[in-house]
Amino acid sequence: MAYAVVAPLVVLFLILYSRRKSRQYPLPPGPRKFPIVENLFQIPSGGFLWLDYAELCRKYESDIIHLSALGNSIIVLNSAKTASDLLEKRSSIYSSRPPTVMLGELMGWGSTLIFRPNDDSWKSQRRIINQALPPTDPKRFHPKQLSATHDLLRVLPHSDNLIRDFSRWAAAFIMDVTYGLDAAEAQPYLPTAVAALDSMATAGTPGAFYVDQIPILKYVPEWFPGADFKRKAREWSDLRVKMTETAFNVTKQRMAMGTATQSLTLAALEQIDRTQDLTSQEDIIKKASVTAYGGGSDTIVAALGSFILNMLMNPEIQIKAHEQLEKVLGPGDLPSFSDEPLLPYITAITQEALRHNPVTPLAFPHELTQDDIYEGYFLPKKSIIMPNVWSILHNEEDYPNAEVFNPSRFLDADGKMNSKVKDPANTAFGFGRRACPGKHIALGSLWIAVASILTCYSIEPELDEHGKPVKPKAEWYPGPTLFNHPLPFKCRFVPRSRDVEASLGVSLI
Ligand code: HEM
Repeated sequence: MAYAVVAPLVVLFLILYSRRKSRQYPLPPGPRKFPIVENLFQIPSGGFLWLDYAELCRKYESDIIHLSALGNSIIVLNSAKTASDLLEKRSSIYSSRPPTVMLGELMGWGSTLIFRPNDDSWKSQRRIINQALPPTDPKRFHPKQLSATHDLLRVLPHSDNLIRDFSRWAAAFIMDVTYGLDAAEAQPYLPTAVAALDSMATAGTPGAFYVDQIPILKYVPEWFPGADFKRKAREWSDLRVKMTETAFNVTKQRMAMGTATQSLTLAALEQIDRTQDLTSQEDIIKKASVTAYGGGSDTIVAALGSFILNMLMNPEIQIKAHEQLEKVLGPGDLPSFSDEPLLPYITAITQEALRHNPVTPLAFPHELTQDDIYEGYFLPKKSIIMPNVWSILHNEEDYPNAEVFNPSRFLDADGKMNSKVKDPANTAFGFGRRACPGKHIALGSLWIAVASILTCYSIEPELDEHGKPVKPKAEWYPGPTLFNHPLPFKCRFVPRSRDVEASLGVSLI
């Protein structure tokens, strides 16, 4: 009886207390909120969202701003300090993911690691990846990374579709690591994966579909005028299912036949507890695997594309890189990972590619799981937190002349890595408990690709019908998307010498 009286009073007290707290502290600055619609028409939804958010932060002279509409509260963090203070130092309450209707519910991605809230399934999926890709043992993957990169070197001079060849390079490695499928076996899975990841990038962009702001729209039937998003969601969900199931089933069958090679999926299947529910354990493994496969494909392709485009635009940087490679490698040698300490300019180019055009300029949205107070501002529970990676990596104090692609910014006067300059990888791969678990393998794959391509080739503009070089243009996919990648472009990979032909076993000319 006493409980029946006291419990509602406690709840009432907590509600009143939290309201009082929210009134005591203002929300962070941001555009004025209009009645009912609040900031609906000011929330960026076009392409290059990160530039629009950066502009809003400039306008309101704050590294933390707030917008809201239709029950959603959005907080943008525009500096390394705000991102670190909240997403890292307070990661216990800043590490969930906001639910999404289009991507999460209608397309079914919501239960996979990257979009999963901070719960037990997320922890189990993340554990599978951390065990298979331990950051302490990056050397384990070096032979696979080298072999995938040498295959890429063989096709580049004859490539008529760079993005396709980069996707094959990335898939050859990540499919091997994830499912134990070699380069040739991985190829048939590529078109589905590329299409599924494209749809994920489009649907995951905040503001891309009204159903995320007005969830009741999810009940509109597919045939209803204007409900094209429902047809898209169904087709894109089919792609997700195909991408999740097919390669997983191959590994499972091979395991049963005793022919499976070492992989993330195999290692997790071997650890299944046969006394517990098998279907739910397999489901977790499937989801962890498909996220590793997805996370390690388009991201790396975008980073490599950005590197090539920047080399095309900056021939003088290539010349410097060639000079350092010539000093360190003998004629006919291809670089290996052990050369890294002797090739700081190559490392600097890789870092600058990640900084200048970050692949995920808003990382991935985090969700705040309880009310918080920061620097005198009230940050409401369930806010969507958007760290502006682009702004952090284009901050003039840390990276003077940030708009210029300049690898030398990472080197000291002796040409060695300058530890005083912030490593962009600490930002480009996200924050806190949700930071990218594939960071170390991504960095390895990129470094060896950059070093190997520059060893073998000079990246040069296309020639027109008169044999004159066509002036290259740097154009970026205008979105809306969460991924930043160059639009398809053409260039020539001109072999620098025939010395490496023996190492690659092909004629490059
Ligand atoms: C250049 C390459 C890559 C970039 C720029 C990148 C970037 C990111 C970013 C920004 C996040 C979100 C972090 C956050 O929420 O704060 C993330 C998450 C993730 N990445 Fe990567 N990534 C790359 C490569 C990879 C690779 C090779 C893998 C393979 C395992 C991978 C797997 C994942 C997974 C599974 C997550 C989800 C983590 C979670 O939500 O707990 N990524 N990545």
